[in-house]
Amino acid sequence: MKLNIKNKTAEYPIIQGGMGVGISLGILSGAVAREGAMGTISMVNIGYREDDFYTNALEANIRGFKTEFALGRKIAKGKGLIGVNIMVAANQYEELVKEAVKEKVDYIISGAGLPLNLPKLVEDEEILISPIVSSLKALKLINKVWLKKYNRLPDFVVLEGSGAGGHLGFKKEEIEKGKSLEKLTREILKYLKAIKNQEGKDIPLFVAGSVYDGYDLKKYRELGATGIQIGTRFIGTYECDADIKYKEFIIASKEKDLTIIDSPAGLPGRIIRNNLLEKIKKSRIPSNRCINCLRTCDPKNTPFCISDALINSVKGNIDNGLIFAGSKLDKITEIVTVKSIIKEIIKEYSEK
Ligand SMILES: Cc1cc2nc3c(=O)[nH]c(=O)nc-3n(C[C@H](O)[C@H](O)[C@H](O)COP(=O)(O)O)c2cc1C
Repeated sequence: MKLNIKNKTAEYPIIQGGMGVGISLGILSGAVAREGAMGTISMVNIGYREDDFYTNALEANIRGFKTEFALGRKIAKGKGLIGVNIMVAANQYEELVKEAVKEKVDYIISGAGLPLNLPKLVEDEEILISPIVSSLKALKLINKVWLKKYNRLPDFVVLEGSGAGGHLGFKKEEIEKGKSLEKLTREILKYLKAIKNQEGKDIPLFVAGSVYDGYDLKKYRELGATGIQIGTRFIGTYECDADIKYKEFIIASKEKDLTIIDSPAGLPGRIIRNNLLEKIKKSRIPSNRCINCLRTCDPKNTPFCISDALINSVKGNIDNGLIFAGSKLDKITEIVTVKSIIKEIIKEYSEK
């Protein structure tokens, strides 16, 4: 099951999805990589713990990223891969991608918008680049632009279905009644097989969104995918970088507590209902320290500040936080180690 893409190798084709703000930083991504998988640091407002975050957000984010990436590499002890997730909707997108390139991350995954200029920012072809897509149409458009303008194709692709946690690349009505993830996977695989990459090989596909265990890994690999990306499950680990109260809230919550909101990122988002949601329904909660983090947000009219809300939650202020989560919440019942999750997935995958 070894993963080989260009000069990068990992024991297992399992990506821990990037989770911002601060949910997947150096400790979680390093622990995942140490087990032979792919640990992803989310770069969204990654400098939120720096003293100058509200006065000098870009420098704070760059400093925060360097610290977390170095920590991840140290924990990984040379095993697995460590990459970053950078949201296209972020105002500092280009600067953050360039910084990740300078630090020589193993890969860059980019979603929440179409990463049409990603190859221009990542000239070092040893760094793998991957878009996150939720439809064949989006992938075709990205490939068309990347080939025409930069003569490059994705090194791998993440397909994120509507069951995922966080922002979703679907309209609200599609989330309930859209195509199944299996059907989407087949569609995308058929296309990827037909186009091949520039070396004549299939472009590896990773499937995400309520993809949870070794049986899922088996199912999608049998369809022809290379691997899976998992987000929410990794929040229930000792190594997850969020405050313990965040992890406990994830464990205490059930699938019936999930709902979909319109996020200031311009996309629907799956969250767990909480106090903040009730407050937003009653009145606007603007930020009094806006750092203009999202291209898509209109600070004068936004119903709430997503940056404040996500930073509250990662620090354990659950009542005033926004808690993103995927739809397999019922399965997460205790805090475990990253090692035990990877081990369990591989054991299930290997069952006859
Ligand atoms: C708390 C949380 C934060 C997330 N943050 C990001 C992010 O910053 N960028 C991104 O592209 N995806 C983000 N995601 C999506 C994950 O990377 C992953 O694709 C998704 O969680 C997969 O679905 P699952 O949670 O059902 O496993 C987030 C998900 C969660 C649960």
